[in-house]
Amino acid sequence: MKESRKGLKVLITAGPTREHLDPVRFLSNPSTGKMGYALAEAAHQKGYRVTLISGPSSLPTPRCRRFVRVTSAQEMYRAVMKETPSADLMIMTAAVSDYRPARYFPRKIKKTGRRLSLPLIPTADILKELGRRKRTGQVLVGFAAETDHLIRNARKKLCEKNLDLIVANRVGTAGGGFESDWNQVVLITSQGERTVLSRMSKKRLAVEILRFLQSRSSRPVSLRKTSSRFPTP
Ligand code: CTP
Repeated sequence: MKESRKGLKVLITAGPTREHLDPVRFLSNPSTGKMGYALAEAAHQKGYRVTLISGPSSLPTPRCRRFVRVTSAQEMYRAVMKETPSADLMIMTAAVSDYRPARYFPRKIKKTGRRLSLPLIPTADILKELGRRKRTGQVLVGFAAETDHLIRNARKKLCEKNLDLIVANRVGTAGGGFESDWNQVVLITSQGERTVLSRMSKKRLAVEILRFLQSRSSRPVSLRKTSSRFPTP
């Protein structure tokens, strides 16, 4: 990660996306944005220049250089692609909807009592596209929300999306994941290093993730020149 004199430029996504079917109904998930907002706040406190792109969230806007609110996966994709060329570090925590309704009904769909099928079409994978576009010096971090085979699935995402680091967290159980203030994660680097972190608040986890990234740079982040790969520990 190369930090300019003005400070490291960090791009973060957070929260869920909403894929509207009609003006009053949408496809979404229980993400609150807590992890991404905590990362934005922690990075801002380190003096980094943070842009936070957030799906719908009821959290107060964190202190950061730029805050962009979006609703759908498509809007998030556009906002991210606009910001990515100048970013040094990109951390994608958003729980982006993988599908959206094939058709948008501009008026509320009225009930008929009959069975209703809704065709869905895939949305673009923002993180995968960032992995494709990643240039030397940029560091790309993703999250993996898994109910099963945590490590295997997270590793697959790390590889397929060309990430430097993946934060693997179990969802669908009590005590962490969506909606909770707490999380328990495993950090997996592209060099194959695996670090199991204890259960901690998302605010503390944000600080730990940034600290981990900094410690895996061969020199302090502010001095790092070109490589986007972490050295083998
Ligand atoms: N992600 C993204 N764009 C998508 C889907 C996911 O940028 N359309 C990002 C998320 O922000 C996260 C990572 O990809 O950093 C993994 O998201 P996750 O929901 O765990 O997995 P998916 O890639 O969507 O795959 P699956 O739902 O099959 O587990």
